[in-house]
Amino acid sequence: MFQYQGKTALITGASAGIGAEFARALAARGTNVILVARSQDRLQTLADEVARDHGVRAEAIAADLARPGAARELRVAVEARGLTVDLLVNNAGFGTHGPFETLAPEREGAEVALNVAAVVDLTHLFLPAMLAKGDGAVVNVASTAAFQPVPYMAVYGATKAFVLSFSEALWRSTAGAACVCWPSVRARPRRSSSTW
Ligand SMILES: NC(=O)c1ccc[n+]([C@@H]2O[C@H](COP(=O)([O-])OP(=O)(O)OC[C@H]3O[C@@H](n4cnc5c(N)ncnc54)[C@H](OP(=O)(O)O)[C@@H]3O)[C@@H](O)[C@H]2O)c1
Repeated sequence: MFQYQGKTALITGASAGIGAEFARALAARGTNVILVARSQDRLQTLADEVARDHGVRAEAIAADLARPGAARELRVAVEARGLTVDLLVNNAGFGTHGPFETLAPEREGAEVALNVAAVVDLTHLFLPAMLAKGDGAVVNVASTAAFQPVPYMAVYGATKAFVLSFSEALWRSTAGAACVCWPSVRARPRRSSSTW
């Protein structure tokens, strides 16, 4: 069972919605939190809240994870604070909708960069240390959209299908060493070897 007390979690997309709730829930379990999104003000407000309410260390790091190189810069920022990530929550993501041919290619590209590339990059950067320690977890937030093609949300559904496939493959290949979970939102998170 994953022990939360005294561990450190990095949560992407922590300035709002599900990410902010991950932060609150983890802090309530005694987990220090590194909150990542683009909105520094909202992150800092949440960091102050969870530090005050739960006595954990809470850091706010602003980053646009759709930008190439952002994941690597984030790891540098984490290391500069003397922190080690025990739990990575790849939550940041968004969805576009409408007839594919009408959607802005730049926005679709950013969706793939955030929902897919950042998940892969951050997992590459933080999973090896967890495996070396034999302790840690990666939580990737997919969607019910992962389970079938989604007309008018073609790119979003495809990105979440990637997250599901990627996570299930990593879960198998890391079994026993670290835990990779793939909660699909709006359903109860699936259990793997951790308590999520
Ligand atoms: N809500 C649902 O019903 C639902 C259903 C299925 C799956 N999901 C998935 O659950 C996850 C969270 O969804 P949500 O509804 O909580 O979303 P949300 O309320 O829109 O929050 C998205 C979070 O991601 C951050 N973010 C957006 N673009 C970013 C970027 N380029 N770089 C860094 N951070 C960025 C946002 O903060 P900033 O704007 O400050 O950057 C915000 O903190 C997503 O992966 C989503 O696909 C949600």
